[in-house]
Amino acid sequence: MTSEIVIIGGGVIGLAIAIELKLRGTYVTVLCRDFSAAASHAAAGMLAPDAENIPNEAMRSLCWRSRALYPDWTHKLEELTGLNTGYWPCGILAPVFEESRGGGEENTPLSATSPLSPAYWLDKEAIHQYQPGLGAEIAGGWWYPEDAQVDNRALAHVLWTAAESLGVELKEGITVEAIRQQQGQVIGVQTNAGVISAAHYVLAAGAWSNELLPLPVRPRKGQMLSVQVPEFVPELPLQRVLFGQDIYIVPRRDRAASLKEKRSLIIGATVEDVGFTPHNTPDGIQTLLQAAIRLYPQLQHYPIQEFWWGFRPATPDELPILGTSHCKNLTLATGHYRNGILLAPITATLIADLICQQKSDPLLSDFHYSRFHAQPSTHTSMLTHSANFSNGHRPAVSSQNSELSEKLERRLPPIQTSVTQDSALIIAGKTFQSRLLTGTGKYRSIEEMQQSVAASDCQIVTVAVRRVQTKAPGHEGLAEALDWTKIWMLPNTAGCQTAEEAIRVARLGREMAKLLGQEDNNFVKLEVIPDLKYLLPDPIGTLEAAEQLVKEGFAVLPYINADPMLAKRLEDVGCATVMPLASPIGSGQGLKTTANIQIIIENATVPVVVDAGIASPSQAAEAMELGADALLINSAIALAQNPAVMARAMNLATVAGRLAYLAGRMPIKDYASPSSPLTGIITS
Ligand code: FAD
Ligand code: GLY
Repeated sequence: MTSEIVIIGGGVIGLAIAIELKLRGTYVTVLCRDFSAAASHAAAGMLAPDAENIPNEAMRSLCWRSRALYPDWTHKLEELTGLNTGYWPCGILAPVFEESRGGGEENTPLSATSPLSPAYWLDKEAIHQYQPGLGAEIAGGWWYPEDAQVDNRALAHVLWTAAESLGVELKEGITVEAIRQQQGQVIGVQTNAGVISAAHYVLAAGAWSNELLPLPVRPRKGQMLSVQVPEFVPELPLQRVLFGQDIYIVPRRDRAASLKEKRSLIIGATVEDVGFTPHNTPDGIQTLLQAAIRLYPQLQHYPIQEFWWGFRPATPDELPILGTSHCKNLTLATGHYRNGILLAPITATLIADLICQQKSDPLLSDFHYSRFHAQPSTHTSMLTHSANFSNGHRPAVSSQNSELSEKLERRLPPIQTSVTQDSALIIAGKTFQSRLLTGTGKYRSIEEMQQSVAASDCQIVTVAVRRVQTKAPGHEGLAEALDWTKIWMLPNTAGCQTAEEAIRVARLGREMAKLLGQEDNNFVKLEVIPDLKYLLPDPIGTLEAAEQLVKEGFAVLPYINADPMLAKRLEDVGCATVMPLASPIGSGQGLKTTANIQIIIENATVPVVVDAGIASPSQAAEAMELGADALLINSAIALAQNPAVMARAMNLATVAGRLAYLAGRMPIKDYASPSSPLTGIITS
């Protein structure tokens, strides 16, 4: 099936984008696993850039722009569908308790500085007069007249109906299992109903986005409940949102009688880092009720209506991920955390501008996914300055090693920047500055391993999941031995003899990476090796396992014999790299498969990482000169007499080989050619 644009995710973000794209004349399909599980249904619907007191300036601008779009946007949707979204510019009152006066008047909110979005301080008397029924300990508070609310459940329903009536193809119950990529393009999405292809794709899968791409989006659970306003209370007692510390109360007016929604007060919300753990808990609900009653005591007598929970899509800096991706035809719109309802209209506008007109709003640059990538360290500065050893985490090498390093450092002349421009190594959308990958096996001690990893300046270290599990020598304490905030773990399936085993171990590897704090790490180095004498990989088992792991959302880096046909097949099933061997693992025989590796490089559209067999820096440089994108070297470093110095040498060789490849070597000639040409010589 082919569609012009496929959107993955049918929450408010996916639907709002779908409608905007459809209105601009594109053919759109939305794939949605579970409409009712979306955070969009669980939210409180506050449009609260001021009350949320957002510290990031770009985010504040984005939120303000979106809030300003709300009246026209909801009006347009209501006209299209004849349904009510419950948009209500009711303002938000943020009361402050006696004991937290420090968070009160003296702590002017950021919005108070903007004439477009004013904030007013109300003292004790004013606030109690303005909002009767507040808790007696409230000593004052801020009034944000521009903040508003929308009934997010009604909005989700309206968006779905509007999309349907405009002719957006809505496919509920469809799970995208993997995004298939080739040559920097998405070529289709693997779903539970087969492969679906389109010219362009948008990832808007909320808290689940990380199952499909290695983006740092994690679920942040929020529990909520609502109470019903009893019929004997003639008017809705709250006419504005109350936004306290760790608690808010959102009044909801009567909606269409057909929807049987009564007047209610929504009470929220917990903020919990518990993964996708479902359900409400007594502790969560008790905390909310206690805080809500303190803020607005009369609700303690109201009947409880409903409990629910949802998963906010959170990023490490709490800002959304918007804009282009590592694939030309894939746009990202995820990670909206606490403000996805608010940000739906501006997200839809900016993303549609980007896709339809290639117009990139300057604000988008603050929300680009690349902000999470490692900062360039010496890996490129090795290319732009002189070869030096400082990378912000200088290895704790022995004094002998450090002396050697310094000597080397002093001797190396600076390199002209003009010849050294290089792009970074990108694997499955993640950028790495170093093109040398190393391992943790075979070292004589943990300290030697630590020194070597640091000296190699690598950013990816492969770890044998099975050896960690069985606490094999050298693999105890690995979690603490390396700084996993700086080094990307590449779990490998070493020791697996069948595809089934490798798949099982890969899943364990993903959990292991999570335990080390790499929630978004879906990488696996796939090794299926039944033959214990030569340690040669099984091509059929590797292909089978790769196919399954790609479907499960892994970024698969398969270790293979240097077989160009197999490399192509693995690329076709969606592997993130291919890793042909130079010679058998640990043999130290060097480059024995040059001709085949050359063919693989010539035909590959994913990075080619030469793995296994490289024993010396000259061989490392040679592999890079061929045009390999990176090298994985373990034994040659670990088994050297001085591993840390060899690690540094391998780093320099990798960089040298890469530079030589970029520089383009001179042609080979059959006969000698004098270094000083004779042409143009003045003869007497
Ligand atoms: P979602 O709404 O979660 O939708 C994602 C959709 O993608 C889901 O339907 C899911 O089934 C689908 N999906 C996921 N993976 C796949 C896949 N592989 N294949 C197919 N489909 C897939 N925001 C505000 O602005 N104001 C608030 O007051 C507010 N309060 C909140 C209170 C709570 C308790 C919570 C949890 C959130 C709150 N939010 C609020 C945040 C807001 O709800 C989210 O930021 C927003 O809903 C994110 O929208 P989304 O479309 O990106 O994700
Ligand atoms: N924006 C309110 C919440 O996320 O709980």
